[in-house]
Amino acid sequence: MDKTPQQILKEKREESLLGGGIKRIEAQHSKGKLTARERLDILLDEGTFQEIGAFVTHRSKDFGMEKQQILGDGVVTGYGMIHGRLVYVFSQDFTVFGGSLSETHAEKVCKIMDLALENGAPLIGLNDSGGARIQEGVVSLGGYADIFYRNVKSSGVIPQISAIMGPCAGGAVYSPALTDFILMTENSSYMFVTGPNVVKTVTNEDVSSEDLGGASVHSSKSGVAHFSCANEVVCLQNIKDMLAYMPQNCEDDAPAKEYTAGNETRDVLNSIVPESANQPYDMREVIEGLVDTNSFMEVHKNFAENILVGFAHLAGKSIGVIANQPAHLAGVLDVSSSQKGARFVRFCDAFNIPLLVLEDVPGFLPGTDQEWNAIITNGAKLLYAFSEATVPRITVITRKAYGGAYDVMNSKHIGADMNFAWPQAEIAVMGAKGAAEIIFKNDIKSADNKEEAWKEKEAEYADKFANPYRAAARGFVDEVIEPSETRDKCIRAFDMLKNKVRTMPKKKHGNIPL
Ligand code: HXC
Repeated sequence: MDKTPQQILKEKREESLLGGGIKRIEAQHSKGKLTARERLDILLDEGTFQEIGAFVTHRSKDFGMEKQQILGDGVVTGYGMIHGRLVYVFSQDFTVFGGSLSETHAEKVCKIMDLALENGAPLIGLNDSGGARIQEGVVSLGGYADIFYRNVKSSGVIPQISAIMGPCAGGAVYSPALTDFILMTENSSYMFVTGPNVVKTVTNEDVSSEDLGGASVHSSKSGVAHFSCANEVVCLQNIKDMLAYMPQNCEDDAPAKEYTAGNETRDVLNSIVPESANQPYDMREVIEGLVDTNSFMEVHKNFAENILVGFAHLAGKSIGVIANQPAHLAGVLDVSSSQKGARFVRFCDAFNIPLLVLEDVPGFLPGTDQEWNAIITNGAKLLYAFSEATVPRITVITRKAYGGAYDVMNSKHIGADMNFAWPQAEIAVMGAKGAAEIIFKNDIKSADNKEEAWKEKEAEYADKFANPYRAAARGFVDEVIEPSETRDKCIRAFDMLKNKVRTMPKKKHGNIPL
């Protein structure tokens, strides 16, 4: 007896759910990896996933491919909800031709990307792929470029998040690289433009996939990845957590959490900065003492640790935090920390997330390494990003604000809205010791007791400049505040700024020093 249309549909649905088949699913599990569909089950609110294109098959007729048709063609695409909010997703299925990207696989991804852009909701890509479908040649390469083009069109319009949960090699790395955030799973994912074999042939270096482009390398050395995740579940949970701070698109406000106002004084903030200006402290303690309890979600934690960036809630509202970290390299600005800070500032500004800057910076890092690696261009990125940001912007100087770094770290002069300083703040061209050495050189030289004279002059300079009152007298600092008052002051200031409108001159686009 012929099958009924309903039976045919049922069978096709069952077939598509199996991807590359039980054996390959088992192989995926034996590597400690989940399947494309299992990942979506964890990522999305239960029962919300709606699949699009489950019956798509490839069109390739070379190398016997016409006889190997697998429904879905190696990528599961669709939409669903995370915390009740719409998201578009694609999840590459390694059990089907190694998740490799064919012409039709790319078309499925592009369809989802177009829907995400037109409907203003985040796009999440779960990547696990052997790269271009080798049997297809250039149509596969074209498919990648179609995706890259859409990544760029969507940039700054909708949040785009990439999780790397398996191989991601060759030109395939450029789609994640064009998105806003990359998360990698530890010991099961890697990203590189050329793999270990090519590296060996070209440079004679012996390197493993993990050491060349694993989660640890990219989250600490290169900064390509923003999160290194212990396993896939942690990775998917991080995506969900991150979305809670973001709006759906650039026209939208970030979601607010319910918040009941109370006593906002935080005495703990009074005892974090040490008395000696040269002693380090952990700026995370300041952030955690200031923002809503347990709300700080650090981004790029292991990369350029001399600056901290991350999302937080303040009185229930999303903010982006950028903070110098005196506990690492004294919180100095260098090439990597400038890049890290700039990129985060631009994300927040694109998506209407107000910025809170905590400043304790002794200046830019000197040296040939920094100069030859273009600290000029890279420092300018941070300067540009802050100057261009039109969201509400608050700065709190907790201790040092020296030299060019004072200007760069969201100073009043480059458009910050409210600038606070703690009483122990030192705002000057340089530290008192170095300053005394230069401007009192002759006095010190002619003194009988040079050591004594130097100390005296250092104290004189410190007395004049190692405080926040010169800057406050000029209005560069709006208010000198007790640390314990900071949370209250910031909540009030962000509330005061909530209807801020600032427009930049009409232009096609600026030319950030890339
Ligand atoms: C077609 C592929 C494939 C690919 C893997 N498969 N990669 N099929 N095109 N690119 C298939 C395998 O034939 C195999 O099929 C199944 O996927 C699983 O692969 P295995 O090799 O058995 O798995 P594993 O041992 O885990 O190794 C995974 C891998 C390896 C490291 C990804 O498969 C690999 O090196 N693949 C080729 C990678 C590559 O060179 N891609 C092109 C990169 S260049 P069966 O039927 O046995 O299950 C590129 C350019 C993009 O992508 C440019 C964009 C601009």
